[in-house]
Amino acid sequence: MDYSDKVVAVTGGARGIGRAMADAFHAAGAKIAIADLDGAEEAAKAYDGFGMRVDVTHEMQIAEFVKQTEAAFGTIDIYVSNAGILRTDEPSWDAAGATDQAWRDSFEVNVMGAVHGARQVWPGMKEKGSGVFILVASAAGLLGQIGASSYTATKHAAVSFAESLSIAHGDEGLQVVCVCPQAVRTDMLGGSEDGGIAGADGIVEPEDVAAETLKAIEEKRFLALPHPQVAEYEALRATQRDRWLGGMRKFRRMMVGSRGRPV
Ligand SMILES: NC(=O)c1ccc[n+]([C@@H]2O[C@H](COP(=O)([O-])OP(=O)(O)OC[C@H]3O[C@@H](n4cnc5c(N)ncnc54)[C@H](O)[C@@H]3O)[C@@H](O)[C@H]2O)c1
Repeated sequence: MDYSDKVVAVTGGARGIGRAMADAFHAAGAKIAIADLDGAEEAAKAYDGFGMRVDVTHEMQIAEFVKQTEAAFGTIDIYVSNAGILRTDEPSWDAAGATDQAWRDSFEVNVMGAVHGARQVWPGMKEKGSGVFILVASAAGLLGQIGASSYTATKHAAVSFAESLSIAHGDEGLQVVCVCPQAVRTDMLGGSEDGGIAGADGIVEPEDVAAETLKAIEEKRFLALPHPQVAEYEALRATQRDRWLGGMRKFRRMMVGSRGRPV
């Protein structure tokens, strides 16, 4: 794809994976708009772009961000719904151990953030007859993250929503890319050196995630998998569910045995 005239908007773009996405699209020649809870304006300066403080759980704030981005640069061609949060099952580590608030917050950011984004950008893309919606979900949305039930459930919902977008609008010109990494070296790892359970296959850099995402756009693939093993794990989970669950329980036992906690 020629990105030189493209307008790319990234949520959660002030740092981490979102920032690397903005870097990659900017390097490819795109105009960049960044939405984040904090640091958006500052981050956008690096691209001569547009930045705005946005909480993706509030649809009207996304609407304003889209309106102002489009006033500055034109219709958004590529929307990266990347903002996300991780809440663990602490302190009990029971599957239902996280508070209701943690579950609600996870759903609001990880799922509704993407729904709000799609509602706001799809009409412009539809009118134009093309657009790319990138949803940064997680390998947790295809497999599961031990010790983080609310993250796992909401990332599964996010993957499912990305599929719905592709099914509903693929014929009308929308390309959907669903990004599902395991551990990525960002603040979300909470300073863990090995990435805990998510780092079992190694930690990749945010730049690797961005590069794989651009590759998926070119190859017209729905899934962007910075850790390619995830495809095999998903196949195993789908075809041998009891064996999969047994393996995950074993993994959890090992983590609890060595660290006293499942992550
Ligand atoms: N780091 C990983 O190991 C990993 C693995 C798989 C998937 N992911 C996903 O990648 C995405 C980016 O995470 P990251 O690793 O870069 O983490 P990060 O914490 O470094 O960045 C997340 C960004 O989202 C922003 N954000 C959070 N809530 C927001 C809200 N309500 N409105 C607007 N912005 C908000 C934060 O301010 C931050 O800038 C998330 O969706 C995350 O679930 C991360």
